[in-house]
Amino acid sequence: MTMTKKVLILGGDGYLGWPTAMYLTKLGYKVAAVDSYFRRWACHELNVEPLIDVPNMQIRAALHKDLTQRTIEVAVGDITNYAFLQKVFEGKAFSSGWGPEPPDAVIHYAEQPSAPYSMIDREKAVFTLTNNLVGTANLIHAVREYNRDCHIVKLGTMGVYGTPNIDIEEGYLDVEHKGRRHKFLYPKAPGSLYHLTKAQDGDMLYFYVRMWDLRVTDLNQGPVYGIETDDTLKDDRLFSIFNYDDVFGTVLNRFLVQAAAGFPLTVYGKGGQTRGYLDIKDTLACVELSVRHPADRGKYRVFNQFVELFSVNELAEKVVQAGRNLGLKVEVKSIPNPRREAEDHYYNPAHTGLLDLGLQPHCLTDEVATQMLAHVMKYKGRIQRDYILPRVSWL
Ligand SMILES: NC(=O)c1ccc[n+]([C@@H]2O[C@H](COP(=O)([O-])OP(=O)(O)OC[C@H]3O[C@@H](n4cnc5c(N)ncnc54)[C@H](O)[C@@H]3O)[C@@H](O)[C@H]2O)c1
Repeated sequence: MTMTKKVLILGGDGYLGWPTAMYLTKLGYKVAAVDSYFRRWACHELNVEPLIDVPNMQIRAALHKDLTQRTIEVAVGDITNYAFLQKVFEGKAFSSGWGPEPPDAVIHYAEQPSAPYSMIDREKAVFTLTNNLVGTANLIHAVREYNRDCHIVKLGTMGVYGTPNIDIEEGYLDVEHKGRRHKFLYPKAPGSLYHLTKAQDGDMLYFYVRMWDLRVTDLNQGPVYGIETDDTLKDDRLFSIFNYDDVFGTVLNRFLVQAAAGFPLTVYGKGGQTRGYLDIKDTLACVELSVRHPADRGKYRVFNQFVELFSVNELAEKVVQAGRNLGLKVEVKSIPNPRREAEDHYYNPAHTGLLDLGLQPHCLTDEVATQMLAHVMKYKGRIQRDYILPRVSWL
């Protein structure tokens, strides 16, 4: 096993990036986090502030250092700017403690992550395309320029597959055609422009793996839920950016806040939409397992990163039960679906790769859902009810 020492986290201020940075320092990695603060600016622009106020990356890194004596190097900048990314790879964007050697692994979270955001208008569509694809292209070129051995771990999404009427395999599909066989990337049918950019950045990485023998892991992740990791417990200011609005909130996080606010849970359409979900703690574990066991040179490795399948109706039922446990009466209401998606469909994706690497999954038990709801209730006074209903239509 190769132990990676220096890990660069792109998108290190985000919902997943910040807890990943704290988690990896605890495991002994040398960690640097880079972020453009796009997510914070987009929240200001759309007036959809997160549930909990969290200080910026620099303040959180200093606080984390005070509490744990562990260092997270921080740089603010945009990875679509190649000159900035060069400084990052040369170590010039960080304190001298990081050193001039390029990273051994890069975790690439730094993309515009919202399907509704990408569907707002032409400007947001073009931003999503440019940000996600140019950022990924720059990363690939930086790896080529500074260390071709560097392992790129890119966050993808299960949404690239759509909802085909056959089983979804882990990245590739064996096809037999007129008596001959070939292994192709699994066909993609994304359901939003954001998801399309995730399919495109995956194709781009696969292309450069074939051209330049890079090492890449693409983590096709399902929607993440959760508010806490072990490292956030030390101080509220170390929490992740947690959105519950229609643009940046993911479905279960939204339902928890809706329940806390006494707002009927907003099930889109029939609610039969089924996806693979995971606890934020499992995201950290999956990413670390990928870094600890790098893809081979010349290999584009794909893992389907989720733990359990739920329909939207099943998730709503989980939150109703959590509410009952806390003495809350939670209602569920079907509202017109703003998206174009199947509301009742076959869904059977494989997801054995990360389990084989040693993932010990957390499940969405009644107790976990109740704890999360109790936690959200502490911030009930901050909930803005006008953030809740969907405002972006796919049509
Ligand atoms: N949260 C989920 O449920 C989920 C599910 C599947 C996939 N993903 C993917 O995981 C990644 C992280 O998601 P998240 O929920 O933490 O989102 P996030 O928006 O909280 O994190 C992404 C971070 O990247 C930064 N960023 C964006 N573009 C940048 C750029 N050009 N240069 C520098 N920084 C930039 C943003 O400011 C933000 O802090 C994204 O790529 C997302 O598509 C997330």
